[in-house]
Amino acid sequence: MMDYFAVEGGRPLEGRVFVHGAKNSALPLLAATLLADGESVLHNCPDLTDISAALGILSGLGCRVRREGATVMVDPTCRRGHTIPDELMGQMRASVLFLGSLLARDGEAVACWPGGCALGARPIDLHIRAFQALGAQVRSWNGRLSFYGPRLHGRRLALPIPSVGATENAMLAAVGASGVTTISNAAREPEIVDLQTFLRKLGASVHGAGTSTVVVEGAEQPLHSCCHRILGDRIAAATYLAAAAAAGGDVFLRDIDYRHLSTVTGVLRQAGCTLSCQEDGIRLVSDGRLRAVSPIRTAPYPGFPTDAQAVVMSALLRSSGTTVFVENIFESRYHHVPELVRMGADIRLEG
Ligand code: UD1
Repeated sequence: MMDYFAVEGGRPLEGRVFVHGAKNSALPLLAATLLADGESVLHNCPDLTDISAALGILSGLGCRVRREGATVMVDPTCRRGHTIPDELMGQMRASVLFLGSLLARDGEAVACWPGGCALGARPIDLHIRAFQALGAQVRSWNGRLSFYGPRLHGRRLALPIPSVGATENAMLAAVGASGVTTISNAAREPEIVDLQTFLRKLGASVHGAGTSTVVVEGAEQPLHSCCHRILGDRIAAATYLAAAAAAGGDVFLRDIDYRHLSTVTGVLRQAGCTLSCQEDGIRLVSDGRLRAVSPIRTAPYPGFPTDAQAVVMSALLRSSGTTVFVENIFESRYHHVPELVRMGADIRLEG
């Protein structure tokens, strides 16, 4: 892996770019492959460190895992045990998603507390409360967590905030619970819809993803396996759009659903870029002369994504006027600010 990127700036960006599959979709889908009773095939799976960590967790649990290009195959039939190895659990926060699947499948899951990137305190209390509500007993000792719920029961779960991960984990665990689970104030991100699509392909009964109420009817039987293409990555797409907006140029992003990026494209339009959204992608034309936009406040989907905050802020350093950003999702998500200031950016941080 490279230690640094060398960027030679000062020229417009031109061309067509393929947007890889969404990491934030691939991770819960890889966790969901544990629910299948045969080999699941995921196409358009990005090749990223977190994905390797997720594949490592599946292998560590005894699953047969293969990758051919952008296609990943997972067969959990020779899986043994329900303990996630500490070193893999500590590598990324999304490893917590494997707990929901293990609980659904085995009625048991053991792991240490998850790791993750430095976005401030990132508790998993909502995940734990969802498992408990479904009937799992939770024990925490020496930095480890164990969940025991051989007979999970569906019920009404009201999330206090629409957490993406807690919604996904509740959906995964609910697939193994008897009866109906209704998750209200659920996150509405496109990745939740992708998880629902995958679970349905496996044979689970899941409805409502994309709205704030998700309903899962738990199955007693193991599900079958399936083939699925992961949706395009909104964060990667926002990054390419921001780069072309700032540098100027004419780019076309393939394999991304423009409907998933409407707040980002709206901001870039307001900043002076010309965007055309088509069924097969998004075209952005920019002369590199941007203007400031109305305050950008990050919010759960369909609001402005926190994951696009840094790249859009970087692009708007090229604008005339001042733009205000308000981060509402994570308490510590301005790590890029001091670095940009070192490069000469005029950014003031309050709070
Ligand atoms: C997911 C995305 C991440 C994105 C974030 C918000 C993945 C793998 N990662 O992260 O890229 O930035 O959504 O769109 O999909 N919270 C609690 N208790 C919990 C869970 C969350 O207090 O048990 C808080 C978090 O600290 C945060 C907020 O809820 O302040 C939203 O977090 P959440 O939606 O859960 O984000 P992730 O699923 O971790």
